[in-house]
Amino acid sequence: MTVTVFVPGDSAALAVGADKVAAAIVREAKARGLDVQVVRNGSRGLLWLEPLVEVRSDHHRVAYGPVKVSDVPSLFDANFLEGGEHPLFHGQTKDMPFLSRQTRLTFSRCGVTDPLSLEDYRHYQGLKGLEKAIAMAPADIVKQVADSGLRGRGGAGFPTGIKWKTVLDAPGDRKYIVCNADEGDSGTFSDRMIMEGDPFVLIEGMAIAALATEATKGYVYTRSEYPHAIRVMTEAVRIAREAGILGPSVMGSGRAFDMEVRMGAGAYVCGEETSLLNSLEGKRGIVRAKPPLPALQGLFGCPTVVNNVMSLASVPVIMDRGAAFYRDYGVGRSHGTIPIQLAGNVKHGGLYETAFGLTLGELVYDIGGGTANGRPVKAVQVGGPLGAYFPPSLFDTIFDYEAFAAKDGLIGHAGIVVFDDTVDMLKQARFAMEFCAVESCGKCTPCRIGSTRGVETVDRIAHGIEPEKNRALLGDLCNTMKFGSLCALGGFTPYPVMSAMTHFPEDFAPTPLVEAAE
Ligand SMILES: Cc1cc2nc3c(=O)[nH]c(=O)nc-3n(C[C@H](O)[C@H](O)[C@H](O)COP(=O)(O)O)c2cc1C
Ligand code: SF4
Repeated sequence: MTVTVFVPGDSAALAVGADKVAAAIVREAKARGLDVQVVRNGSRGLLWLEPLVEVRSDHHRVAYGPVKVSDVPSLFDANFLEGGEHPLFHGQTKDMPFLSRQTRLTFSRCGVTDPLSLEDYRHYQGLKGLEKAIAMAPADIVKQVADSGLRGRGGAGFPTGIKWKTVLDAPGDRKYIVCNADEGDSGTFSDRMIMEGDPFVLIEGMAIAALATEATKGYVYTRSEYPHAIRVMTEAVRIAREAGILGPSVMGSGRAFDMEVRMGAGAYVCGEETSLLNSLEGKRGIVRAKPPLPALQGLFGCPTVVNNVMSLASVPVIMDRGAAFYRDYGVGRSHGTIPIQLAGNVKHGGLYETAFGLTLGELVYDIGGGTANGRPVKAVQVGGPLGAYFPPSLFDTIFDYEAFAAKDGLIGHAGIVVFDDTVDMLKQARFAMEFCAVESCGKCTPCRIGSTRGVETVDRIAHGIEPEKNRALLGDLCNTMKFGSLCALGGFTPYPVMSAMTHFPEDFAPTPLVEAAE
């Protein structure tokens, strides 16, 4: 009997030797005369256990990890093909606490299926949402997405249904669906994981968006640093086209939609939607002034939906299970689930999809297990390089858009980066300004000039030069950037800077000049 062994082909697993482990399993099986089929699945998101090797026996799967090539002979000796005991054994995959406590709606298939098997995709509820959408009028699809309460997962949390309605109502012969897969935020990888682990869900989400808005062409815009995602996505698009899911008549509906994958050079600002559109048009990635909104005049001047990967990948389950099903998860005005990414100095780093509403402390300590090196947590940065730093005293903050905004923070793309007590928050503030200076598109003065002045001001504080005056100046500068910048790169850089200064004043205390010179 052939035994199926899963070895993730996700970048995070590849980075720690998954290809070699897969090859070693095939070699060892052959040498022992055993019949093994290796499937390269996506990642389950337990990144500290990668490569997490799974074996399917009967109706369940058991997990072993992290597996090194040198572990392979002992796994065979322990009869892992029949779920045998081994020091790397974790029992049934679905019962592993990091997984069993999650609510996986968007990531339900990621790590479970062969990413490029349409058969697997259909077997695990794939295409059900699209089938339902085909039977509906565009306005009804829009309404269902609006009623679900889905908000953009790219950063701003804008209601997806309202965006789609604007595009549907906009006059135009040609409309576009643009998937923002630039994923530039520090500590984030959910978009990449879906593209590598369950690409058809993104294709299905984009096709539904197209039916809802009468768009006929779509693009996935991602970055050159994501070669594996690009390969898998491109191949999935080809397979979907061949199967008639994309093309002149989406699943026989008579409605056309096709899509392509495009690669940017990887500038942070190219994740900003108008800059992204410029880049997609072959121009320099400079931010466009709004209005006009991309929904009205976006790609090549046509009405365009620009949505994050997570937003689009959440749509199939909403169409399949209904608006109320999705809406009932979460708290306040943050409905549904959010794929949280735990990164930095954290013991259990990875992807954790859950309903909105856990506290930051639960995420960092209960789920993440605290720091990887066992030192106390000093701060976490939530929402990428433009997100605020939270000290443990604010760990009772609930993970929802409004609760974070109330604490001068943002959820952004839901990345949490953990720092231990050795971090110097003044250096982090300097880094935020420096990052802004390097990544600024240069279109507006507060960001272009302000960020460089910001670096200089932080340096003066670090060197003990008129610290009080320079701290006030930094606050002033942040205010100018916050209210005077054209886009959120300049407008939100003050968040990490000001939160560092507010919550960790001791790191901004004057250092005598002599000491600084040493
Ligand atoms: C500097 C900057 C970088 C951004 N980077 C990304 C990104 O990498 N991915 C993304 O989806 N949104 C990014 N955004 C937000 C987009 O401009 C836009 O709000 C988003 O793609 C809309 O999709 P959503 O409504 O589904 O979130 C960025 C915004 C700014 C200002
Ligand atoms: S804030 Fe910065 S990135 Fe945004 S438009 Fe202005 S210069 Fe460009």
